[in-house]
Amino acid sequence: MTNLSKFYQKTWMQRLQALMDQQLISVEQRQLLEKSATDPAVGDQQIENYLTHYGLPEGLAFHYLIDQRRYLVPMVTEEPSVIAASSHGAAIVEKSGGFYTKVTDHLLWGQIVFEQVANAEKLKSLLEQQQEKLLQIANQAHPSLQQRGGGARYLRVRILASDLVSLDLAIDTQQAMGANMVNSMLEAVADYLREQVSTPVLLSVLSNLADQALATAVCRIPVELLARPQITGQQVAQKMAAASRLAQLDPYRAATHNKGIMNGVDAVAIAMGNDWRAIESAAHAFAVKKGNYRGLSQWQLKSDESVLEGTLTLPLPVGFVGGSTKIVPLVQLNHHLTAIKSVGELEKVMVSVGLAQNLAALQALVSEGIQQGHMRLQLRATVLAAGAQPAEVATIVTKMQQLQRTDLATAQNLLAKEHEGEH
Ligand code: MEV
Repeated sequence: MTNLSKFYQKTWMQRLQALMDQQLISVEQRQLLEKSATDPAVGDQQIENYLTHYGLPEGLAFHYLIDQRRYLVPMVTEEPSVIAASSHGAAIVEKSGGFYTKVTDHLLWGQIVFEQVANAEKLKSLLEQQQEKLLQIANQAHPSLQQRGGGARYLRVRILASDLVSLDLAIDTQQAMGANMVNSMLEAVADYLREQVSTPVLLSVLSNLADQALATAVCRIPVELLARPQITGQQVAQKMAAASRLAQLDPYRAATHNKGIMNGVDAVAIAMGNDWRAIESAAHAFAVKKGNYRGLSQWQLKSDESVLEGTLTLPLPVGFVGGSTKIVPLVQLNHHLTAIKSVGELEKVMVSVGLAQNLAALQALVSEGIQQGHMRLQLRATVLAAGAQPAEVATIVTKMQQLQRTDLATAQNLLAKEHEGEH
């Protein structure tokens, strides 16, 4: 592998050549890497050892009515059914008057953790007494943030163990996600404290448990809008409320319940150039904040059981500027499509998408089941995996439905027969 050494120093073309020389890729594979590399110059600046751009499908979800405004929602996901489910959930809410949302301030926590603490209470009061000074040092490390109306707002000190203390700074990052800003502000404060106190600093970094950047969406659905072919709206609503309760009680179900919510949230996060891992870790940490891991949303019957009310609160450490937002042209296009103008508005859309996604999943789960409604989409993926050309997919999918088969081998057999017929 010696010729792959100093891979990072090679130009993009040299990297492809090195992989060829080492017989790690074929001519066709090199062509695929070249074809997929939509913007090698940009990719090379974004990450290390750049090879190519890995494409994911992007689609649009419709019917989003949020605080009386309509939104088109671009979603990037490889999972069949997510966008259809999103639009379906949003359409039910649209008929019910739309989503109502609220967002808190957009504060991120940054922590500076001290180890080998001799007297935790003493260190705590020492740090608290220095609040003004520490906030000032943090803000001096990023004066432009303060000029934009943001900056370090307050601090708290938590004693985690007799020898471990966390100093947490709440930082208003304005329109940005702000991870880099927070980290550089923390490091400035940590440097100052290293001179002031003899207790060693273990680490300083932002916390992804963004419980000071919350967004809530609520919807109230007349139960008749939830009816499915074999089951009344009233019954669907009762079962959805029961499924919601289940997700409060059982972490095994809660994990899946929340995965469904994040199917939508992540897809919007990616489309809008955000760090979806940060959003994921925030959501799951928040889901366990009260002790047990729980469903993030809740559904309850209200008004003599005539209305099903859904609520979802999510921590959303997202950004509307910074990160890849300016670098990736598709992100700019998606900003334009949604017509979202601020980080708060982005949070409102994301939390509404999460609730719509959850609504669609629960409605399907308690009625016909998740598979049936989405079978055609799942079948399309199987038929593509069997090697079908896009133009052949519909025919093979229909044949598989007639045979009531869903497996890859059947798809391959049908495809082979189709090809035989052509000769
Ligand atoms: C699949 O990606 C997501 C669901 O499993 C969510 C759920 O069960 O609530 C359908």
